Amino acid sequence: MTTKIASKDIKEKIIIALDVKNQAEVLKILACLPEARIFKVGLELFTAEGPAVIELVRNHGRLVFLDLKFHDIPNTVAGAVRAAVRHGVSMLTLHTSGGKEMMSRAMEAAREESEKSNLKMPLLLGVTILTSLKDKDLNEIGYSSGSQAQVLRLAQLAWQAGLKAVVCSPQEIELLRTELGPELKIITPGIRPVWAEAQDQKRIMTPAEALIKGADYMVIGRPITQAVSPAEAFARVVEELETTIKDTQ
Ligand code: C5P
Repeated sequence: MTTKIASKDIKEKIIIALDVKNQAEVLKILACLPEARIFKVGLELFTAEGPAVIELVRNHGRLVFLDLKFHDIPNTVAGAVRAAVRHGVSMLTLHTSGGKEMMSRAMEAAREESEKSNLKMPLLLGVTILTSLKDKDLNEIGYSSGSQAQVLRLAQLAWQAGLKAVVCSPQEIELLRTELGPELKIITPGIRPVWAEAQDQKRIMTPAEALIKGADYMVIGRPITQAVSPAEAFARVVEELETTIKDTQ
């Protein structure tokens, strides 16, 4: 399948993972990456610093992707989504395995709360299967169909519940793009430029490969944040994506 790649704003395709401990470290990264637009606040940073860290990133004119992977009863998740909307996040995650009702209630809550608060509705992302789980682990929790089939099933459920975006590993991008069409937004971690070390990421892909397969956004952490020059590393990824787009047009 040929994927038409939009070149709108390449920099908005790269999400920088703020896997750091505190606000002081966040400030250092923000200062090093004036060109980066979207920053991911995950469990560690949010648990350490709370909503103040969202405010910090937003006050620096950047967008926040709140990656807390909500998974609870529909009412509780809807409440958490409302709170996240009030904090002004642009993207947030929830587990698709929380079920269709949980996801549709989350969408409804996001829509209502953004209208009420006069804020742009965030993009709700359904996490399919964590890339840390292998088929053996999936069997242990009762998912016996294998990771690809399970990811597809959960992504379809998310789509039926009204979600417009999912998180999956680079290996599943093509399958989801083919099965669910061009409108679904696909976000993937596990991205490693050829010049970066794989570290603990196993099933990796380069930014160019992920883009060609059909990723809309890619989460990149250490290859950029821990580079000798984060700004230069970011610029290299942007250049790689720009070249890829030119080559496909
Ligand atoms: O440093 P690195 O590029 O590996 O960071 C990737 C980010 O994406 C981390 O914040 C990690 O928690 C997150 N992530 C992942 N695999 C998933 C889901 C999220 O690596 N399946």
